[in-house]
Amino acid sequence: MIDDQTVDHKERADEEKSAYEKAADEGVDPRCIPQSLDGRPPVGDEIPYPDYTAQDHANWKYLFERQMKLLPGRAGDAFLEGVETLGMTPDRLPALADLSRNLEAETNWQIARIPGLLHEKDFFNLLSNREFPSTDYIRGEDELDYTPAPDCFHDMFGHMPMLTQPDFADFYQLFGKAALHAKGADRPRLERFHWFTVEFGLIKQDEGLRIFGAGILSSKDEVRHALSDEVEKLPFDPAVIVEQDYTVYELQDTLFVLESFEQLVDGFTDWCMSRGLLTAEDV
Ligand SMILES: [Fe+2]
Repeated sequence: MIDDQTVDHKERADEEKSAYEKAADEGVDPRCIPQSLDGRPPVGDEIPYPDYTAQDHANWKYLFERQMKLLPGRAGDAFLEGVETLGMTPDRLPALADLSRNLEAETNWQIARIPGLLHEKDFFNLLSNREFPSTDYIRGEDELDYTPAPDCFHDMFGHMPMLTQPDFADFYQLFGKAALHAKGADRPRLERFHWFTVEFGLIKQDEGLRIFGAGILSSKDEVRHALSDEVEKLPFDPAVIVEQDYTVYELQDTLFVLESFEQLVDGFTDWCMSRGLLTAEDV
């Protein structure tokens, strides 16, 4: 039996839930339900290379080659350079320990191996420590076109190249710090900010608009859709982004465009400071 007070409490809680938490409530794939870490995850050289099957390597090769063919003229320079700097190739699934070493040399970030979608607090803790949480298992043959669950193609290929860009790397650590401080409605606000930058961000280059968001760059459909006329492109503005709703499982119809990665760090820092989510000590 649910009394009025409980309902009221539940409604309030719903408002403060992230889009992922709401999806989990609605009976979405259990791999998409956030889990808490059981102690400190292995970082950098502590991460063993998994016993991948030939099929796992074949899946990586297929995804890597398919995406790399789509990226010229679409992905931003920082991303494409990052793929090279990290030493990713289609030949075999990269070792997280190797990626971590290369990343550390560039921007002093390391990789932490995690078991799947993390509970927010664990995720933000790692980011605030300049440790990027990554899975090391790859989607199956039946999910090559789309998977709602985290996997290492998204984590490695989608996310890690951008962490070689110094401003982006600094921003992402600040994001972790701010998110640890966020309460109530500021939590979904920051989640929207993450969505429209880290996952679905666009940036202006001299040649035209380019993509840097991991959610676009690791998806064959989003990467063709993002720069098309079907998508409304708005200028980067933190105050607008944090109120912009989105759906997790459909192609995006509104995206935001950065002028530079410096603008990302500065805009995010200013907005967070105005909300008390970052202090002078954090930046
Ligand atoms: Fe992601």
